[in-house]
Amino acid sequence: MAKLTKWVKEDTDNKFVFWPTEEMKKRAWISEESIYKEAAKDPVAFWAVRAKEGLEWFSPWTETYQWNPPYYKWFVNGKINASYNALDRHMKTGRRNKPAIIWEPEPVNEPKRVLTFNDLYCEVNKFANVLKSLGVKKGDRVGIYLPMIPEVQIAMLACSRIGAVHSVVFSAFSGESLKSRMQDAQAKVLVTADGYYRRGKIINLKANADIGANDTSIEKIIVVKRAGNEVKLMEGRDLWWHKLMSKAPLDCKPEPMDSEDMLFTLYTSGTTGKPKGIVHHTGGYLTVALWTSKWDFDLHDEDVFWCTADIGWITGHTYACYGPLLNGATILIYEGSLDYPQRDRLWEIVEKHGVTIFYTAPTAIRMILGWGEEWLEKHDLTSLRLLGTVGEPINQDAWLWYFRHVGGERCPVIDTWWQTETGATLINSLPGIGPFIPTVAGRSFPGTTHDILDEVGSPVKIGEGGYLVQKSPFAPGMIRDVYKDPERYKSQYWSIYGDKTYYTSDGAIKWDEMGNIRLTGRVDDVMKVAGHRLSTAEVENALTQHDSVAECAVVAAPHDIKGEVPIAFVVLKQGTTSSADLVSKLVKQVVKVIGPTAKPEEIVITDSLPKTRSGKIMRRILKALVKGETVGDTTTLMNPETVEDLKEKVGYTR
Ligand code: PRX
Repeated sequence: MAKLTKWVKEDTDNKFVFWPTEEMKKRAWISEESIYKEAAKDPVAFWAVRAKEGLEWFSPWTETYQWNPPYYKWFVNGKINASYNALDRHMKTGRRNKPAIIWEPEPVNEPKRVLTFNDLYCEVNKFANVLKSLGVKKGDRVGIYLPMIPEVQIAMLACSRIGAVHSVVFSAFSGESLKSRMQDAQAKVLVTADGYYRRGKIINLKANADIGANDTSIEKIIVVKRAGNEVKLMEGRDLWWHKLMSKAPLDCKPEPMDSEDMLFTLYTSGTTGKPKGIVHHTGGYLTVALWTSKWDFDLHDEDVFWCTADIGWITGHTYACYGPLLNGATILIYEGSLDYPQRDRLWEIVEKHGVTIFYTAPTAIRMILGWGEEWLEKHDLTSLRLLGTVGEPINQDAWLWYFRHVGGERCPVIDTWWQTETGATLINSLPGIGPFIPTVAGRSFPGTTHDILDEVGSPVKIGEGGYLVQKSPFAPGMIRDVYKDPERYKSQYWSIYGDKTYYTSDGAIKWDEMGNIRLTGRVDDVMKVAGHRLSTAEVENALTQHDSVAECAVVAAPHDIKGEVPIAFVVLKQGTTSSADLVSKLVKQVVKVIGPTAKPEEIVITDSLPKTRSGKIMRRILKALVKGETVGDTTTLMNPETVEDLKEKVGYTR
């Protein structure tokens, strides 16, 4: 077994720096350090080569990059189609009968499903015709509220084939969450399923979809029969997927889209209670989805790529759909829980399907680590050759455990930093170049530039921390707008350091002269709960909708496995008495409004919240309390006695 050469930089300080093996270097698409310098010389030309080489355009662009701060365009006037590039191109090659999607259902006795590129092509064509027959046209929005079943990729690619804009909503989000997103997107059609399996139980997704479709512009709901549970179909509105598909013609011409036409919107949490629709356009997104998949994961034809992220998150969009399929690679998708029916389910899947690339969140790694090595030892994991992480900072122990026990010290660990807004990975090491440093994501992807600035906008020195920003030319797959809310686009990303500098809301440290970057976490009120992005304001909104809540504040507390968890401080309305029953109702309220991922770890009922004399809630104090840190000066507060009271009440320790 070839081992990665380990260079211990400073063993006294327990710092590790790993470099690629000779084998990795030989195999990798990119193994020359010079790629960074070459790309930096002329990033626009670098991306033009990538877009031309990797994708098939119906007609070429007339201008590669156009910048009118804070807006930018890529491959202006170029015509392209996402579904054509992900499917039709492979029909002309030996990949036609290669597996595109391997689907593993949660029930162990149910057979897997394999769709070749040819199968996927046929299904996408048919579903595109179904959408057309329901009146969906170029530019219309289609909601997709599906579990991890192949119909999700079919639906996404069918939308992109006819130029409809998909807006996928995480299937574990509540009906209420779906509704607010569908209202904002003004979706015409919703694609959902009867149900799906989660830990052996059937979740009735259609019932949630019905809540979500209420008071929206949704005219039709297409229902995939997945779990066979009983569902109510509304006459004239709801239609079975299989019935529509059985009559659909096989051929649907791909719509030539402008490079700057919208491909999808994906709602994500910002600092307010209202999620924002991140807008991604076609040509630029496809370019980065393709090349980051290829170079970051060293994706080859024989690979089986398992990205465990749900399709409802950007990671699922880019690495469990567009990116690998554009490369003609095989993706594995899994419906259920990683530890069902027992804790080696995921390793059983890796072994059974010969997964070569495994990409997951640090939360999952910390959870698996806690279960112990015996679950891995039952399985042959030698098919794995590359590991990835995403979504939150990874601690050194989890990184090293992943590297040693999952990767058997053969596989580089690629820690990828990116956001819903960036569309694809941006900061990570490349597998044939390295270095791989636990807790340090790596360098900017070739052709992109990041910096770390202090409060006044000056670049920090090496070893110092500050705020992560991106500089022009902005990566082609970056956010183009907030759906129907350009003001929010401008204020969120382009106001802190001006309209020429993209502000990420992440803290980071300049690690070394090579340009490596360590991410330290969000600097706003966005939490990463088990890798899922949520804002404290959303949880507050959900709680204040309950009749008994007068006021509340939610802060993120550190958690050993999930990274962060929400803790809620709640003031009840006069006349309401606190009880265990009420607390459990409040927890249920959050689950009902947002979904189980947002469940508060603790609800602290209090008579008042610490406030300044002008009435502003002092979140800094609440954060210190849940972190077990010293609270500091409270004399300027309107109600300093509250802090003493809360100190006794906060039971949360991680
Ligand atoms: O704080 C950063 C964290 O996740 C945020 C973006 O969340 P979301 O839009 O849900 O996208 C997650 C998947 C791309 C970032 O602002 N984050 C993402 N990747 C990393 C990370 N933090 C540290 N290290 C990472 N590798």
